[in-house]
Amino acid sequence: MVELMLPKADRPAKGKTWPKPANAQRLREFHIYRYDPESGANPRIDTYFVDLDDCGPMILDGLLWIKNKVDATLTLRRSCREGICGSCSMNINGLNTLACTKGMGDSAGPIKIYPLPHMPVVKDLVPDLTTFYAQHRAIEPWLKTTTPAPEKEWTQTIPQRAQLDGLYECILCACCSTSCPSYWWNGDKYLGPAALLQAYRWLIDSRDETTQERLDNLEDPFKLYRCHTIMNCSKACPKGLNPAKAIAQIKKMMVERKAA
Ligand code: SF4
Ligand code: SF4
Ligand code: FES
Repeated sequence: MVELMLPKADRPAKGKTWPKPANAQRLREFHIYRYDPESGANPRIDTYFVDLDDCGPMILDGLLWIKNKVDATLTLRRSCREGICGSCSMNINGLNTLACTKGMGDSAGPIKIYPLPHMPVVKDLVPDLTTFYAQHRAIEPWLKTTTPAPEKEWTQTIPQRAQLDGLYECILCACCSTSCPSYWWNGDKYLGPAALLQAYRWLIDSRDETTQERLDNLEDPFKLYRCHTIMNCSKACPKGLNPAKAIAQIKKMMVERKAA
């Protein structure tokens, strides 16, 4: 796996070390990025100690234990707690992943937690995903048809439906896009692996009747072609999806329609 740690010189300064819980037998140390843009203060890394005998096994359990019992100002996003909503994505020990599906026992030593890399920070572990969501909207992630709607529903054969496997499961956690070097440098113009995986999901949907229009919208030096097949995206995806392959398939569709 590719780790995404900041160079040492760029890491935030050490912040507060919070007291260890009284009478705890088994402790786990957390180093957590803290930043409040409104405060005017520089980012810092605070140190916390979690009582493992009073806490669930996942990283998210540890973070919520800290928030509930030690420091209520720690800010993070979460909702489902079972890898479905995509909101607890963050950088844990150098890897983008979901805090709710990553176990505290998966690594040794202090657990180092940062927000998703190369995104503006709203506060602490909460990145600003405004551009990310706008890019998702830009690929028009809904069924578009030109013929009149059928009386009941748009049908698919079983093989046509199977084409969507490995694509529809995306939970828009942004782990892939925020681990992509091309997205880091051109995130305002390159759509990034998450949006492009969704673009492909609609391009190969047998019910969609706007394939050429969708390809036209991606025919751009930046939107699609900034992908250089570095593959960080596929390594990062906590759902085991393969955005790099989806991007390669879109490029293939582009070549095939030019040759047709
Ligand atoms: S394969 Fe493409 S989208 Fe994935 S990390 Fe590499 S450049 Fe980014
Ligand atoms: S492809 Fe995977 S990593 Fe990327 S947004 Fe979807 S679920 Fe998250
Ligand atoms: S809380 Fe929903 S994916 Fe982690």
